[in-house]
Amino acid sequence: MTDHEIKINFKAYNSIDDLDKPAHDLCLEAVKALKNSHSPYSKFRVGAALLLQSGKILHGSNQENVAYPSGLCAERVALFNWGANYPDDPIIAMAVTAHTDEFEILQPVASCGSCLQVLAEYEKKQGKPIEIILFCAKGPVWVMKGVETFLPFLFFEKRLIS
Ligand code: THU
Repeated sequence: MTDHEIKINFKAYNSIDDLDKPAHDLCLEAVKALKNSHSPYSKFRVGAALLLQSGKILHGSNQENVAYPSGLCAERVALFNWGANYPDDPIIAMAVTAHTDEFEILQPVASCGSCLQVLAEYEKKQGKPIEIILFCAKGPVWVMKGVETFLPFLFFEKRLIS
């Protein structure tokens, strides 16, 4: 038996004002994305913004459905839009934020495992890491270099990819 330990590195900032301009501006885009959240069931709005190499910004927001499992997270709405429409324009960074009128969010919302798995697939596909920026209005900002930092045991099997 051997014991193993995995370290996760990320940077924490007090506010988005402490980020460099591209990251700061991307956070503002994630806030804009909150507007189109369709979340009448959870009342929990999530906004995601992708910065592409060309400078193009893509928005995503959570889209819920009365048939609950049919809904989709903000991150995957943005990422599948990228995969379907801009796959040759690499993703540099993804900013994610959340808002609800029901309670205060004091810590960034971490993307769910399914969204990280989708992010991992595209990171591998484009061969470049995607910076992940998680933030909320009244809490710190967390910045990770790429999805493997976040999900070290992500599922990947290159023999399944043609
Ligand atoms: N949600 C996201 O949009 N992203 C995540 O990574 C986690 C959760 C959404 C799904 C649902 O609409 C709401 O947040 C409450 O779970």
